[in-house]
Amino acid sequence: MSAPRFAPVTPRTVAALRAIVGAEHVVTAGEDLDRYGHDESEDLFVPAEVAVRAGTTAEVAAVLALASREHHAVTPRAAGTGLSGGAIPVFGGIVLSVERMDRVLSIDEDDLVAVVQPGVVTERLQQQVEAKGLYYPPDPASRGSCTIGGNVAENAGGPHCVKYGLTKDYVLSLEAVLADGRVLRTGGRMRKDVAGYDLTHLLVGSEGTLAVVTEATLRLIPLPRHRRLVFAPFHDLDAAARAIPALSKARVTPAALELMERSALRAALDHLGRTIPHGDAEAVVLVEVDGHDEAAVDADLVRVGEVLASVGSPDPVLADTPAKAADLWRIRRCIGEAVKKIASYVECDTAVPPSKVPDLLRGVREVAARFRIRQISYGHAGDGNLHVNVLTDDPDPVRRETRLRPAIEAIFAVATSLGGTITGEHGVGCVASRYLPMCRDANAIAAMRAVKDALDPAGILNPGKVFFDLPFDTIPRRPRARPAPGGAKSP
Ligand code: LAC
Ligand code: ZN
Repeated sequence: MSAPRFAPVTPRTVAALRAIVGAEHVVTAGEDLDRYGHDESEDLFVPAEVAVRAGTTAEVAAVLALASREHHAVTPRAAGTGLSGGAIPVFGGIVLSVERMDRVLSIDEDDLVAVVQPGVVTERLQQQVEAKGLYYPPDPASRGSCTIGGNVAENAGGPHCVKYGLTKDYVLSLEAVLADGRVLRTGGRMRKDVAGYDLTHLLVGSEGTLAVVTEATLRLIPLPRHRRLVFAPFHDLDAAARAIPALSKARVTPAALELMERSALRAALDHLGRTIPHGDAEAVVLVEVDGHDEAAVDADLVRVGEVLASVGSPDPVLADTPAKAADLWRIRRCIGEAVKKIASYVECDTAVPPSKVPDLLRGVREVAARFRIRQISYGHAGDGNLHVNVLTDDPDPVRRETRLRPAIEAIFAVATSLGGTITGEHGVGCVASRYLPMCRDANAIAAMRAVKDALDPAGILNPGKVFFDLPFDTIPRRPRARPAPGGAKSP
């Protein structure tokens, strides 16, 4: 397992890149370049040698053709809000940003399709389609700043996946550029199209290691007309976790089913400088129901209230105005930012079959006690996807990773022993590549490598990601400054 070697970026490379995209879109120094050395993963920072902001598919293709010829590492990048180090240029080289490709090209109300460039901010697309009574459901917490290109690369999720599915369920086809600069299209605007291998869904979630997506054709659905959100406090975490299988047994399909343990809610409220009733509850479950028929939605709401009470919530509260619901979502969505403000952390993006969430939470608590670590768990419990943030005061990423590794392994072991995985929605990137063999067998990983070698034989596209080719503790990195208090950017 030897790390690939790449050619250093020279003044000649920079001149060639300037000729492709224009001098003003090539960044070689200063704070502007620093921006391309990190994403939102922990506090990792690895400087890029050069960053290029491509404006067209042809420019992306020309940059990749050049990088292939000259053997430069290329780290594709959209908004850089990822949480697994996918956009960190761990081998230096060229960061290839698609942030300028930010147009919604069309919204087709007959076929229910949107065609977008990769730099379109997810929430902007959502607002545009919602104005037409349509819905694009995938909604990562960072939807106000993340973009479709990154969402496609990571197969991003979010709270509404539990009913509506992940990014992959909305990608009909892609235009993408291979490592050597060849452009391909994976299909058209149909849901039904089984001609050959499903390249669309090979590229979705491939974390920028197989191709750079330059256009996405996305499925839209009618916007549900009615929504209700319930906030259910619990005196104990176990009872809150039992709400998940109980709702399945009651045959309710929530539009969202989130769980926060006490420390997660406290972090969010402190971050926002807020208090709310039940803000000190041991755990909170948020359940949203939605649909087109108000009476049916209200009937679901009654069932949800009964289930939550039956598993022990003393006081499930309906957010009875859209403003109150939006406020609760704002609290939920800022937890990631809030945790960052408290301490350095390593995240375990665990996912298990939803019925196993009670066991996962118990197991995580046992690990925390055994290794004497502080952790904060929250997430999309309806999908069995819990973000376990292991906190540490150690600002050094190498030392921190080495010291916490046994605890992280133990947390992932709990998840995988329950039939789960090491990442539900944030991706493997460079932060979890060491642990991939815990949830994928050797033959599966070999098949992934064969695909990678076939599409990117020189290995220039996002090296050091997904596969454990670059031990985390050898990544030449330095800690990034922690965000200033109040610097939150979550919606
Ligand atoms: C969330 C992000 C961290 O669920 O995935 O808040
Ligand atoms: Zn999440």
